Amino acid sequence: MSSDFSLLRRPRRLRSSAAIRQLVRETQVQPKDLILPIFVSEKIRAATPVASMPGVSQFTLDEATAFAAKAHEQGIRSVLLFGIPSEKNERAEQAYAETGIMQRAVRAIKNAAPELVVITDVCLCEYMSHGHCGVVDHERGGVILNDESLDLLSKTAVSHAAAGADIVAPSDMMDGRVRAIRRALDDAKFSDTIIMSYAAKFSSAFYGPFRDAAESAPQFGDRRTYQMDCANAGEALREVAFDIEESADIILIKPGLPYLDVLWRVKERFGLPTAVYNVSGEYAMIKAAAQNGWLDERAAVMEMMTAFKRAGADLIVTYWAREVLRWLGEAA
Ligand code: PBG
Repeated sequence: MSSDFSLLRRPRRLRSSAAIRQLVRETQVQPKDLILPIFVSEKIRAATPVASMPGVSQFTLDEATAFAAKAHEQGIRSVLLFGIPSEKNERAEQAYAETGIMQRAVRAIKNAAPELVVITDVCLCEYMSHGHCGVVDHERGGVILNDESLDLLSKTAVSHAAAGADIVAPSDMMDGRVRAIRRALDDAKFSDTIIMSYAAKFSSAFYGPFRDAAESAPQFGDRRTYQMDCANAGEALREVAFDIEESADIILIKPGLPYLDVLWRVKERFGLPTAVYNVSGEYAMIKAAAQNGWLDERAAVMEMMTAFKRAGADLIVTYWAREVLRWLGEAA
């Protein structure tokens, strides 16, 4: 872009008609940008709506498979899976069991829709009885054991790859997990499996509804010792740099809306494929306002999606993925 503003005129003429505005748009949300999250639960017998996320449900294995296949038919290119096991314990054993809910879901979905890119959330919080993302040392007052957690996370990632996952997405925020997971994947001959790292994951009030959906709220304490302080953008850049050095392929920033500045800096600085997570709280607040007639949901969501693209996102994880796809089709 030219920095010599004396050469520029105000672009009023370029806003004169919808057709012209469309021609000169700088950024455009595309179907391929959208990643649809899906919650698969082993504990339910039929789809169960998540109260704080109107329009989002937990699904049984069969329902999730049918839902993913249908979404793929409608044009969704990738899904992000979360598993809710019926059994939790302090070793998170169901996170890496071959017969775990996630592993079965990946196999079933890849079988039903081989071309659909399947991304798995790699974390322990849904599988730990205490709801933390890592191994807890109770004797030392409930501290999270970083290095002990790496082994379990690596096993989990390998088990997802073995089930057929295309991309594994570690969301735990333990230090060194990208390197540990990469090594474990390579050792197990899954060198083509991609790592999408939640490199900059802030400790956020906007995850509230998700913890209902994934049944992963910590039973004691909070996640502030391993998730980032919302005040720190420089630290976010360093976290991203570490993850890239540890060989992350795709960088994810989370949450989205309150962290557009971080997204922008990360994309500008590193240029890697960059994803943003439009999280549950961002979803819930617009849904609630729309249900009250205070906001136009479609307009607000499309503005937000465009803002993610403008700020540098190549990929957007959003609970609105199917609606956005439909709205894009209607606009064309
Ligand atoms: C943790 C995880 C969380 C989300 C995705 N993975 C929540 C947390 O850190 O408590 C949140 C996503 C959302 O709010 O939509 N494994």
